Amino acid sequence: MRVAVIGSNGQLGQDLLKTAPAEVEVIPFTRKDFDITDRAKVFENLAGGRTIDVVINTAAFHKTDACEEEPDKAFLVNSAGVKNLVDACALSGTVLVHISTDYVFDGKKLESREPYFEDDAPNPINIYGISKYAGEIIIRNYLEKYYIVRSSSLYGVAGASGKGGNFPYTILKKAKAGEPLRIIDDIFMVPTHTYDLAEGIWKLIMNSFPYGIYHITHTGYCSWYEFAKKILEYAGIKADIEPVEYTEFPTRAKRPLWSVLGTKKGIDLGPWEEGLGKFIERAVR
Ligand SMILES: NC(=O)c1ccc[n+]([C@@H]2O[C@H](COP(=O)([O-])OP(=O)(O)OC[C@H]3O[C@@H](n4cnc5c(N)ncnc54)[C@H](OP(=O)(O)O)[C@@H]3O)[C@@H](O)[C@H]2O)c1
Repeated sequence: MRVAVIGSNGQLGQDLLKTAPAEVEVIPFTRKDFDITDRAKVFENLAGGRTIDVVINTAAFHKTDACEEEPDKAFLVNSAGVKNLVDACALSGTVLVHISTDYVFDGKKLESREPYFEDDAPNPINIYGISKYAGEIIIRNYLEKYYIVRSSSLYGVAGASGKGGNFPYTILKKAKAGEPLRIIDDIFMVPTHTYDLAEGIWKLIMNSFPYGIYHITHTGYCSWYEFAKKILEYAGIKADIEPVEYTEFPTRAKRPLWSVLGTKKGIDLGPWEEGLGKFIERAVR
C-alpha cells in the first residue's frame, strides 16, 4: 500500500512517518514539494499517473488568532486547499484521510460536561474552526472514500511547525527559566499525543474501518492548568504555578470553553495522562 503524507515535517506528520506499518510505503510531502493551495501541483503530485492508495492531509493554517487577522489565508488553506486534494483524490480513486479539529464545536456542552461525539452538530465560533468545518463539508459532499479525523490539543516531540512549538514545551521552557506560570483553569479539552494519534490513524486505515467522521483523542479531559501541573509533575520540575480565568488573557479569536471529544466508533487512545507520560519519556529524558 502506498500512502502519501502531506505536512510530513509537522508534529503529527513526523509521528505518522515513525509509526507507519512495515507493509506501507510512505511518500512524504512537505510544503517545499507542493503547497496544497497550488491546484496544478496538487494534481501533478497526487493524480499524475502515480499510484497512491491513501492521502493523509495534516496541512493546515491553524494559528487560531492569526486566522482572525488573515481569514483569506485560513479559507485558502483549510477549505480551498482541501478542495484541491478532494478533486485529485476523486480523479485517481484515492482515499483521503483529513485531520480536522475539536474547534468545529461551540463548547456549549460545558453545561452537561459530556464529550462531543461524531454525530453532534458542529457550530464553530472562530475563523479557524469555520474554515476547517468548510473543509469537512467539501470532503463529505464531493468524495465517497474519506476519513475525517477530528482530534484535539496536539503535542508531539517535533513541536507544531505552524505554531512554533507546543504547550508542553512552552511550560517546560518557562518553568526551567524560573518564570511564574499563570495558566487558564476554566477551558477544558483532551490533550492528545501525536504519536498515539498517528497509531490510531494507521489502525483506521489498515483495518478498513467504514468511511466517515472519527473522533480520535485520548480519554478523559482536563483544564490547561491541570495539564500544565501534570507536565511539571511528570518532568519532575518544581514551578510557581497559579490557576487563572480565561478572561485574564483576552485573545483575538473566541475559543470554545469545552472542546472535549469522545467517540462512538471504537478507536480511543487511552487516558491522556498515559499519552503525556510517553511524551515526557521521549522528549525530555
Ligand atoms: N495543533 C493542534 O493543537 C491541533 C488540534 C486539533 C487539530 N489539529 C489539526 O491537526 C493537523 C496537524 O497539526 P500539527 O500540530 O501536526 O501541525 P504542524 O506541526 O504545524 O504541521 C502542519 C504541516 O503542514 C504543512 N503545511 C501548512 N500549510 C501548508 C500548505 N498550504 N501546503 C502544504 N503544506 C502545508 C506545514 O509545513 P511548514 O512546516 O512548511 O509550515 C507542516 O509541516 C492540522 O490539520 C490541524 O488543523 C491540530
